[in-house]
Amino acid sequence: MTARHVAFVTGAGRGIGAAIAAELVGAGASVVLGARTLSECERTAEALRERGGSAFAVQLDVGDASSIAVALARARELAGPVDWLVNNAGIAVSAPLLPKDGNSDKLYERHLRINFHGARHMAEGLLPAMKSAGYGRIVNVASSAALRGYRYVAAYCASKHALLGWARAAALELDGTGVQVATVCPHYVDSPMTDASARTIAAKTGRSEAEARALLAAENPAGKLVRPEQVAAVVRALLEGDANGAEVELDGGAPRYHPLPR
Ligand SMILES: NC(=O)c1ccc[n+]([C@@H]2O[C@H](COP(=O)([O-])OP(=O)(O)OC[C@H]3O[C@@H](n4cnc5c(N)ncnc54)[C@H](OP(=O)(O)O)[C@@H]3O)[C@@H](O)[C@H]2O)c1
Repeated sequence: MTARHVAFVTGAGRGIGAAIAAELVGAGASVVLGARTLSECERTAEALRERGGSAFAVQLDVGDASSIAVALARARELAGPVDWLVNNAGIAVSAPLLPKDGNSDKLYERHLRINFHGARHMAEGLLPAMKSAGYGRIVNVASSAALRGYRYVAAYCASKHALLGWARAAALELDGTGVQVATVCPHYVDSPMTDASARTIAAKTGRSEAEARALLAAENPAGKLVRPEQVAAVVRALLEGDANGAEVELDGGAPRYHPLPR
């Protein structure tokens, strides 16, 4: 019998991360769900256990290296050595390129700390054991904002470009070790983060939230929002497969696979 995979999904309390956790439980993995709001992770994990899955909730702030260390140790105790990491946790705060108070440093620092360094720290915490075992999979949930720019989210775009740049370098360096890094780049997804963006647009423009959501959906090349389950299915395929450095763009239509640029 092959050993059960142990997956750690960051930002798994809701949205895309919760869909990924459900998909991986469906794949037979034991799944650790981490986020700052423990109660949300517990609720999601409980629902997965009710369906017969193996799921555990841990508190995690990926923006805090000591929280990561504690969460990784707890995950190992609860579920065993993690061989699948999904770096999904992320934030997106909109702001003009030149803010009124003239200081963007906090905004950039926060996006980079959570969206980039958080993912890197999670990977660095797990890579030594994965390399010793000769097997491991890391999938980053970046964004189409890692491939192109969007107005009013320069800090978010910069942090996602950083994440993809790191993943490309990591994949090259890990080539042949049995440990692989891949990245998914979804366009707008139907999740609480997009609901929040629609509320912000509605408040700023006087449009209704439904109109604002329709505008975001229209920005996707396929003209509709990506479903969290579509992202989850691609993440599972990357974890189960053999595609070091793959970058998968999800725009609401069929996923587009790009090989690692060399
Ligand atoms: N929605 C989109 O259109 C879209 C498109 C492309 C890529 N993405 C990316 O997909 C990922 C998930 O997005 P989503 O739409 O599902 O967002 P969401 O609905 O806002 O969920 C984000 C998740 O990340 C967690 N999180 C945020 N900051 C965290 C931190 N410091 N430490 C640990 N967990 C943290 C949140 O929980 P807590 O707040 O409780 O910590 C929550 O569970 C993000 O990386 C996002 O950038 C989203």
